[in-house]
Amino acid sequence: MLHTVKRLINYLLFTKKPAWVARNWSGATDHEVAYWNTWVADDGGKYAEDFKDRLNPNFPLQDQFTALLNAPEGTEVTIVDVGAGPCTYIGKVYPGRTVNLIPVDPLADQYAEIWSKNGLTVPIPTRKCMGEDLRSMFEDHTANLVYSRNALDHAIDPIKIIRGMIAICKPGGHVLIDLEENEGQNEGYAGLHQWNFGREKGDLILWRPGFKVPLGQFMSQCGDLNVTGRDGWISICLRVGESWTFPTEVSSAGTSSLVKYAEDLA
Ligand SMILES: C[S@@+](CC[C@H](N)C(=O)[O-])C[C@H]1O[C@@H](n2cnc3c(N)ncnc32)[C@H](O)[C@@H]1O
Repeated sequence: MLHTVKRLINYLLFTKKPAWVARNWSGATDHEVAYWNTWVADDGGKYAEDFKDRLNPNFPLQDQFTALLNAPEGTEVTIVDVGAGPCTYIGKVYPGRTVNLIPVDPLADQYAEIWSKNGLTVPIPTRKCMGEDLRSMFEDHTANLVYSRNALDHAIDPIKIIRGMIAICKPGGHVLIDLEENEGQNEGYAGLHQWNFGREKGDLILWRPGFKVPLGQFMSQCGDLNVTGRDGWISICLRVGESWTFPTEVSSAGTSSLVKYAEDLA
């Protein structure tokens, strides 16, 4: 009951334009850091198994990733995890191949502090980078796989991040985004949960109250797009094409252009 009331209040309060998300973002990061503080202090709490796996430097790269990478023995694969949190979910070992795994997150400094105060170290420390700034950290066309799990709904400008994820991926490589479907709405727009990735008449959309972008249409212009759903999660997999275009009006100038585009759409 309390949860329903909280969701309703948040819905009414946060029916705002995307520009508001940008202003709100820094003020909401404490909520995220507090969550991970407890997660580390409790050794993962109810996610203890996942906690152990993430901290295991010998944990194998999961099938969902090796199936996409399909890398011949003796090669090196570069994987970027965007919005990786304190310790990447991605496994570290791919027998016969070298894994160059780079987790990034805007809250990396706060996460490093959490590990340090708990006297723990992680196999691959997360590096500091806003998802929106991927192209200032990575060269274009350099990663075999660019992944993001449960993070883009927390961002200021998910479209700019996706544009960057596609740009830094090699042609023929994959951009894979796993999210809980309509997570902003599920969480009542609390903390950093500001966006919804969902499906409307089978098409992938990015939305929040009063605002909607046909994300699937954009991504399809960049390669082969496959969107699937399972157990409340949505998995967005793009095999990046040899040459592609992403609508420039929503990709070059961040949130302000995104807002303008959505207003034009309305
Ligand atoms: C729920 S956590 C998920 C962490 C990790 N991917 C996982 O599945 O455990 C969401 C993460 O998104 C990050 N995040 C928030 N805004 C972001 C942005 N603009 N760019 C990239 N990551 C962002 C947060 O700092 C947080 O670590």
